[in-house]
Amino acid sequence: MIRIEALRKEFDKGVVALDSIDLTFEEGSFVALLGPSGCGKTTTLNCIAGLLEPTSGSIYFDEQEVTNLPPKDRNIGMVFQSYALYPHMKVIDNIAFSLKQKGMPKAERHEKARKMAQKLQIEHLLERMPGELSGGQQQRVSMARALVKEPKVLLLDEPMSNLDARLKIEIRDEIRRIQQDLGVTSIIVTHDQEEAMAMADKIAILDNGHIQQFDTPEMLYHHPANLFVAHFMGNPPMNFIDASVSIREDGTWLQGETFAVRAPAAIAEKLAQMDGKAVVIGVRSHQLDVSLAPAPETLELKLSIVENLGKEVMVSGELGESRIRVTMPDGFAGSYEELTTLRRQGGSVYLGLQKEFNVFDKESGVNLIG
Ligand SMILES: Nc1ncnc2c1ncn2[C@@H]1O[C@H](COP(=O)(O)OP(=O)(O)OP(=O)(O)O)[C@@H](O)[C@H]1O
Ligand SMILES: [Mg+2]
Repeated sequence: MIRIEALRKEFDKGVVALDSIDLTFEEGSFVALLGPSGCGKTTTLNCIAGLLEPTSGSIYFDEQEVTNLPPKDRNIGMVFQSYALYPHMKVIDNIAFSLKQKGMPKAERHEKARKMAQKLQIEHLLERMPGELSGGQQQRVSMARALVKEPKVLLLDEPMSNLDARLKIEIRDEIRRIQQDLGVTSIIVTHDQEEAMAMADKIAILDNGHIQQFDTPEMLYHHPANLFVAHFMGNPPMNFIDASVSIREDGTWLQGETFAVRAPAAIAEKLAQMDGKAVVIGVRSHQLDVSLAPAPETLELKLSIVENLGKEVMVSGELGESRIRVTMPDGFAGSYEELTTLRRQGGSVYLGLQKEFNVFDKESGVNLIG
């Protein structure tokens, strides 16, 4: 287990890269640090590795405080975006290098390197030089090199960003498989939310040196803690619609410029004290009901684009200030051709909020119902 408490890192010229970060990484879990460029992902990882000294706060590996230990005393394996292999050493010696430093005899360390290479399916490359390998192969070598010393913690900083799309998926599945096989506590830095969702047990979303939410992929997707997380997670991105809370005798309503929708009981309860509050409704593209005829409590969407994506049809249009994307539900009564004709005629579809949606405070961004 790794625990970070009140971690703060300031650089020169008053740059605060991390501000009071608290995180716990369970033993054997795989956690992703996710966020936009400059949010503090690498800084967090480097503090855990011991490559950077925190300004304040503490880091524990199990019960041992490691905050001021040098990297070599932390038993970590690291994999970087640039594979950083030793160019003048054969692959087998690259993998076995840390074992050599520890004084392990050649036969033994080569045996261990060979076993790890087998796991990563690069056994046939052991006699080559790094310059004779593809990017994906080099990345597997750097994984093997990090894992061969049986580290307590595996730290990966954007390990796949130099690979093409197909190889990315292959290597990410491989990393996940080996991580689970070995049960090594692992932390990966990425700015790719799909990668984080696919690999990690939990994801910490950072923005501007602060944790925005630390949760499972499901929770981040369905119950984002605030508008920042909601904007960041999911593809296509969540739709956002301005409204205000209106508490009337006949119930709690979400009142927009051109629509009014009655909030279901569970949501109404959370909004009980918020009459008049400006909110943002957040709803995913496939959580909207769609009909071709207007009905009470629907939102009119004037069609501007109809796309046939093969597996589904997506339509979009403007609703007030926001652009709304809708994935047509299975079994929708209109075909792609009909929707295209409707769009050409300047027609609309009517959206219903009967499924899952979230309500955010427009001012603070906080999820009011999550
Ligand atoms: N050595 C340094 N000196 C001064 N400022 C730094 C230094 N390293 C990082 N920073 C600043 O700290 C902040 C966090 O940087 P960090 O490298 O952790 O971001 P990141 O989330 O890894 O971004 P990216 O996705 O671009 O790699 C940034 O504002 C960055 O400019
Ligand atoms: Mg970085």
